[in-house]
Amino acid sequence: MHLCFIFTFLLQSGDALLPLVINTWGFKSASETAWSALKAGGSVLDAVEKGCSRCEAEQCDGSVGFGGSPDEKGETTLDAMIMNGNTMEVGAVGDLRRIKNAIGVARAVMERTDHTLLVGESASQFAENMGFIAEDLTTNQSVNIYTEWLKDSCQPNYRKNVSPDPSKYCGPYKPGSQLKKRRRLIDIHAHDTIGMIVIGQNGQIAAGTSTNGAKHKLPGRVGDSPVAGAGSYCDSTGGGAAGTGDGDIMMRFLPSYLAVELMRTGTEPSIACKTAISRIKIHYPEFFGALICANTTGHYGAACNRVPGFSTFPFVVYNSQTNTPLLQSVDCF
Ligand SMILES: *[C@@H]1O[C@H](CO)[C@@H](O)[C@H](O)[C@H]1NC(C)=O
Ligand SMILES: *[C@@H]1O[C@H](CO)[C@@H](O)[C@H](O)[C@H]1NC(C)=O
Repeated sequence: MHLCFIFTFLLQSGDALLPLVINTWGFKSASETAWSALKAGGSVLDAVEKGCSRCEAEQCDGSVGFGGSPDEKGETTLDAMIMNGNTMEVGAVGDLRRIKNAIGVARAVMERTDHTLLVGESASQFAENMGFIAEDLTTNQSVNIYTEWLKDSCQPNYRKNVSPDPSKYCGPYKPGSQLKKRRRLIDIHAHDTIGMIVIGQNGQIAAGTSTNGAKHKLPGRVGDSPVAGAGSYCDSTGGGAAGTGDGDIMMRFLPSYLAVELMRTGTEPSIACKTAISRIKIHYPEFFGALICANTTGHYGAACNRVPGFSTFPFVVYNSQTNTPLLQSVDCF
């Protein structure tokens, strides 16, 4: 009777399930690596960095790491961030060139400088100075993607209101009026980002992201992933969130920040995720995007916007209950 009462009490009070590793998409090896880092005595930051680095090395879905998503010039460039939910420090890189381990560089920005975000060629120089190896991020696959795109009149692309009509030519473009309806990118996996939240046994939260950005992006384009509050966010007193999808749209709404603030005031993780996605839907009903959320007790949820060809969003959870990287999914709404 007494034991039974205690058991019921624990369940009802939302018994903490820590540590927790949760990440976007079916990237199981990333969660496995993050979990191993924790078990080996690493910090939550180590877990996020190692988990996302694993995806960079494995080129998860071709949309994380080298050799994927070439830009309009055929170059692969990387965006990444990492955040410490105890100190609220952030390190991030955007449009990083020639360095494979983007989240490692992001962590160096956080721990070896007073800055938050470094971009482009200068970020690469910083990385080299910090001992990261510069190498070509081009692969046969990225060359093929780029060559096919050139052959197809540089379609689809992200230009609008320019002449000549971007549905016919590769440019150079000038401001002008568009004659034909341009072809939009419909490949949903052109936007996959690894976003990861790790909560330690002691409640410390870290979050991070890594991606090679949107396929055929304009050179210089930086998406939501390295922007704190957009790509991911965490606060050890509120929770953590991370997103994936059409970053050009998502970064206008800081969905990760919104979700963490909602969880801080007691909103359940799945509702917090849903509310943040709903906010974007008001303005962009057809945007493609998803969010994962976890609160301080290790409860988690996810939400995604339903668009043609995309009705469920996969994510991976690793805690002492799953005891393995468990693939889960949420129905988009
Ligand atoms: C986290 O969310 C769960 C529901 O999913 C809730 O039971 C629990 O109280 C929440 N924790 C906090 C600290 O808000
Ligand atoms: C890449 O392409 C080159 C030349 O087309 C070829 O020699 C090389 O073996 C290819 N590499 C891989 C890893 O397929």
